[in-house]
Amino acid sequence: MTQTTVYAGAPLRQGSAVSLAQVTKSYGNVHAVAGLDLAIDRGETVALLGPNGAGKSTTINMLLGLLSHDGGQIKLLGKDPQDAVLAGQVGAMLQEGGLIPRVTVKELIEFMRGTYASPMPLSEVLEIAQLTSLADRKVDKLSGGQAQRVRFALALAGSPELIVLDEPTAALDIQSRRDLWQTMAAYAERGNTLLFSTHYLEEADEYAERIVVIAQGRVIADGSGAELKKSVGGKTVSFDRGNWDPNGLARTPGVTGVEVRGARIHLSTDDADLTVTALAQSGALRNVEVTGGGLEEAFISLTSGTNTRSGS
Ligand SMILES: Nc1ncnc2c1ncn2[C@@H]1O[C@H](COP(=O)(O)OP(=O)(O)OP(=O)(O)O)[C@@H](O)[C@H]1O
Ligand SMILES: [Mg+2]
Repeated sequence: MTQTTVYAGAPLRQGSAVSLAQVTKSYGNVHAVAGLDLAIDRGETVALLGPNGAGKSTTINMLLGLLSHDGGQIKLLGKDPQDAVLAGQVGAMLQEGGLIPRVTVKELIEFMRGTYASPMPLSEVLEIAQLTSLADRKVDKLSGGQAQRVRFALALAGSPELIVLDEPTAALDIQSRRDLWQTMAAYAERGNTLLFSTHYLEEADEYAERIVVIAQGRVIADGSGAELKKSVGGKTVSFDRGNWDPNGLARTPGVTGVEVRGARIHLSTDDADLTVTALAQSGALRNVEVTGGGLEEAFISLTSGTNTRSGS
């Protein structure tokens, strides 16, 4: 059997696609981006994950050259952002932005293609964005999901090797989200680089090979979904304090931390089964609860400022 390559038909692109070093941006006394470091290799699909106000849009707008930065250095594909964008090497879908009404899908894409020196062939844009059958539809007659695919098509028009998307699937239903992801995956599979921001943890885990968590303008974790879960991934075992001596509990198998809150003891553990079994052998446990272990908890823990370990 012959070996098939993942990036069939496209050269594997080497080198840095995105590089931000100690980037800062303040609005008055709001430090929206506060010393952000991020390096993304060509061909990577990366999710920028963070709560409202984390600095995702500010970061994206700066790296696209749409917003000036106060300090630090930003390079896209080894160039200044504006040069890379003007050369058609970078496509973008911003958080807000409408479509010109009353034209057809094809006309709008053709207009966009006309602004680049070497655009992607129209048929290819339509195919990747799954718009071939909608090419002659008026833009204002599209559903929300279809309109979003048109916006993605506009980002593709210049045949970019990097696409940056700010919350591409916000406000889409599940089916439209899946459809859009299929089109983005088709683009990424050609060896291109994809950076997207999202609030949806599951989406980041499912579609990105790497998740960069940002909070308060800084990277607080960077790794695969599995690595993030592992870095914060322990569970919490809690039970009524009763006669338990909190000081002695730190030596319980699996336990990584002990906390007393009111009448309850909370143990952080990297092996809840082991911890509970050991506890049950040494005393009476009342109202035992085991919580945590999901990516959702990992994310909340990472962004609440209670845990700032980086899991790269
Ligand atoms: N033009 C502006 N003027 C003043 N403050 C701003 C401006 N734009 C953003 N901010 C502030 O900067 C911080 C980062 O905002 P940003 O929009 O980058 O966050 P975000 O992660 O994209 O959030 P969301 O998930 O809500 O889109 C927030 O505290 C926000 O209020
Ligand atoms: Mg935003």
